[in-house]
Amino acid sequence: MYESIIFKDRKKLSPRYIPKEISHREKQIDLLVRTFLDIKDDPDNFPLTILQIIGPAGIGKTSTVIKFSDILENELRKNKINIKIVYINLKLQGGNKYAIYKYLLSCIAPELPAQGLSAEEMLRQMLDYLIINNMYSIVILDEIDYLIKISKEIGIIYDLTRLNEFDPSKKCNVKGVIFIARSTEFYEKLDEAELSSMGRAYIEFPNYTIQQTSEILIRRSKDAFQEKVIGTDIIDWIAKIIVSPVVNGDIRYALDLLSYAGNMAESEGTERVLLDHVKKINSQIYNGITDDDINEFSNAQIFVLLGIIKGLKIKNRDYIDLKEIRMQSLEISQKYNVKKLDVEDILDDLATRKIIKIISLKKISLISSSIENLEKTLIKKIDSNFDSK
Ligand SMILES: Nc1ncnc2c1ncn2[C@@H]1O[C@H](COP(=O)(O)OP(=O)(O)OP(=O)(O)O)[C@@H](O)[C@H]1O
Ligand SMILES: [Mg+2]
Repeated sequence: MYESIIFKDRKKLSPRYIPKEISHREKQIDLLVRTFLDIKDDPDNFPLTILQIIGPAGIGKTSTVIKFSDILENELRKNKINIKIVYINLKLQGGNKYAIYKYLLSCIAPELPAQGLSAEEMLRQMLDYLIINNMYSIVILDEIDYLIKISKEIGIIYDLTRLNEFDPSKKCNVKGVIFIARSTEFYEKLDEAELSSMGRAYIEFPNYTIQQTSEILIRRSKDAFQEKVIGTDIIDWIAKIIVSPVVNGDIRYALDLLSYAGNMAESEGTERVLLDHVKKINSQIYNGITDDDINEFSNAQIFVLLGIIKGLKIKNRDYIDLKEIRMQSLEISQKYNVKKLDVEDILDDLATRKIIKIISLKKISLISSSIENLEKTLIKKIDSNFDSK
């Protein structure tokens, strides 16, 4: 038998697995269900309702919305309403309007051919199909911020928030459009018409507290691991890492740590996962900076990174503010006779490359847990750059 003494069911740690219970999101699920539940009484008079959900990475936005979909679909079906809730992940479904509408149409009307139709015709077909078949729909667009960031094709927000105006002589059986994003930064790329039809109000998903994080991890561990394999020391340690500003609440990261640490315990033949396993995995997978990154760094970037590291060490915290970074990096660059540094631009660039994380101007942190190693490597690199001149 290949039964593992560590795992009961390892796939339950996969980020794609949606657990039966999404704890600590009851309020949000409830609000979503209540918003749409009245569809059951009089679907035709229920107005097209646009919602937005905003919150940082890995804090249960997608899982919550999928859970809500199941609940609402069930409730409405009990009332003999034929509802189809369509979930679209815009990161996975291609970056243009055409691909997205095609997918939408195929979910609602699988037997209709989309070949040869324009984007607009596809929406029209979808709306007509819903009416003819006495069906209603809610469309969920996940990772809208990603789509808006990478593509200029932002007409999609305009189209979908005004589906009710598409053909004013007909009713609109799409009753809701829900947008999910990590922050409201993408508003900057929208025009007035889009902003106003989308509305600026949103449902905020706050980070879990350390207590809530631990509870979630205990529950997820129970599903995935054999009994007594994950001790409270491990849960406590991971929960602390998760709520730190660098990780900023990302439960997905916790599940990764558990899963890889489980594999390590298994291959080392220990009976339980040890804190040491978790720590090792953490330093392996959370070293945001690769060798390639280091080779590509400009001298200016290295000065700023060294400035951040020095600042972090002096302050003995896992984040520092812009002023401190500026001071420390200039001090370092001057040792190499470089007097000018565009610190802010460099920080922005490092943040886009996911080397650092800018939570606010007062809270900037490094996405790497082993700063000692990083500092040594960077100093070696900068010294050799200047030696070869
Ligand atoms: N309350 C919870 N209970 C159990 N598991 C949770 C909970 N919240 C999040 N998770 C788990 O954490 C992982 C990330 O959650 P999810 O994908 O919903 O995050 P998200 O907010 O959509 O993140 P992103 O912005 O990166 O898409 C998933 O595997 C999910 O199952
Ligand atoms: Mg998500």
